[in-house]
Amino acid sequence: MKVSIPAANWKANLTFDQAVNWIKYIENDVTRVILDYQEYINIIAAVPYVYIKPLKDLAKRTKIYAQNVSHVLKGAYTGEVTISMLKSINCDGVILGHSERRNIFNETDDLINKKVLICQDYDMPFILCVGENLEQRQKGLAFEVIKKQLDNALKGFSKFELMILAYEPVWAIGTGVPMEINDIKEAANFILQYLKQNYKEVPVLYGGSVEENTAYFATFDTGLSGVLVGSKSLDPVEFERIITLTFSGVNNIQFDIEHFANG
Ligand code: 13P
Repeated sequence: MKVSIPAANWKANLTFDQAVNWIKYIENDVTRVILDYQEYINIIAAVPYVYIKPLKDLAKRTKIYAQNVSHVLKGAYTGEVTISMLKSINCDGVILGHSERRNIFNETDDLINKKVLICQDYDMPFILCVGENLEQRQKGLAFEVIKKQLDNALKGFSKFELMILAYEPVWAIGTGVPMEINDIKEAANFILQYLKQNYKEVPVLYGGSVEENTAYFATFDTGLSGVLVGSKSLDPVEFERIITLTFSGVNNIQFDIEHFANG
């Protein structure tokens, strides 16, 4: 049995009450599969900073991640949230280099590398996001872009046990149209080989308009360990199905509808 990683990225969504209901549902009302195989299911929820501490207090099976962390350690940086702050509330990990941070907030490869090294220094697990945009894909540059983003982010980094990689093609994020499964397979193959040959094998996730079908087929026989889910992670009932389907896909289990029944 392999460990599957269904990861939710809420982005800037959900009120505090909705967040609490979400975590209570995922902690208490899950299906038999999730209960029976919990050691093989690593559920992650990347939530807004202000919800981390209260959700940590409610979460037993769910790892609570931040969606970002500052590149500075402390000082006169109004509005920043530092790694020590996250450590001091037992935050389980952070997302780094999400394409929305890169594109909307102008995060560069150098800045992301700084954050990777801060996570290394502070032993903070992280999900590093990489992925090409539409123009780069159309020009046949997708794999070059992924390589460059990886190489730049990982300069000076060696604690691979802290790292999960998320491949999120920018053009598939938030569009409702995920990448074709064959293309996911091809990209997964490239990324897994590249990591193995140049770095270390780490769990790799697919992200970009993931819904139930994609959660299953993107992980079934592709070598991927899970999915990073945006909009379809906001409803806990829908995300619970994604958890089950990701587990089934990662372990090449023919999906059994009965397992949807609450246990
Ligand atoms: P969507 O699932 O909404 O496309 O978002 C994907 C994503 O960016 C997860 O980090």
